Amino acid sequence: MKLFIDTANVDEIRKASEMGVICGVTTNPSLIAKEGKVFEEVIKEIVTLVDGPISAEVIGLGADQMVKEAKELVKIHKNIVIKIPMTAEGLKAVKILSANNIKTNVTLIFSAAQALLAARAGATYVSPFLGRLDDIGDEGMRLIDEIAEIFAIHDIPTEIISASVRTQIHVIQAARRGAHIATVPYKVIAEMIKHPLTTAGIEKFLKDWESVPK
Ligand code: E4P
Repeated sequence: MKLFIDTANVDEIRKASEMGVICGVTTNPSLIAKEGKVFEEVIKEIVTLVDGPISAEVIGLGADQMVKEAKELVKIHKNIVIKIPMTAEGLKAVKILSANNIKTNVTLIFSAAQALLAARAGATYVSPFLGRLDDIGDEGMRLIDEIAEIFAIHDIPTEIISASVRTQIHVIQAARRGAHIATVPYKVIAEMIKHPLTTAGIEKFLKDWESVPK
């Protein structure tokens, strides 16, 4: 399973990229708003940091408007993937963009039925939101199981991005259940690095090293 970072913060993207652990970035309007910068400027900076798919989301709700925004965004860089919300107009836009060889990531997926429709419209990626399903007492991971099973049975090439990831357990379970990608906030990447036995092990090695004759 590949890892993307789910942020619009260039410092976080740079740090994760320097560790070599991510090969793509996802953003959304809320993440962009947190940065207090012009949308296109943030995306232009991100494409210089990671050589892989960079999801940038459209704001329009009608298919024509989505396609118009998408065509402007893909002018920024060849790695731009257009993030489209899961609606009837969104599906229409995905079909048009796919016919124009523009990659899409259908976002706000909360059911396998939505994922199947997005895939059939020609989506490159679908993004089921695990954490937001868990938040309402549902089981986000069950959705990964269902989508992965359907896509495997029917040889559907659309890749599954596990999104709305809140913990490292989400990442590992998504990997075991066949998601192609998890898009992970920097905070969760930082948690994944750490283990108390690693910290204790380093401390002990350094302590013991003090007794080595120099
Ligand atoms: C996915 O692409 C979204 O940006 C993201 O994962 C949403 O996560 P949240 O539910 O933590 O806002």
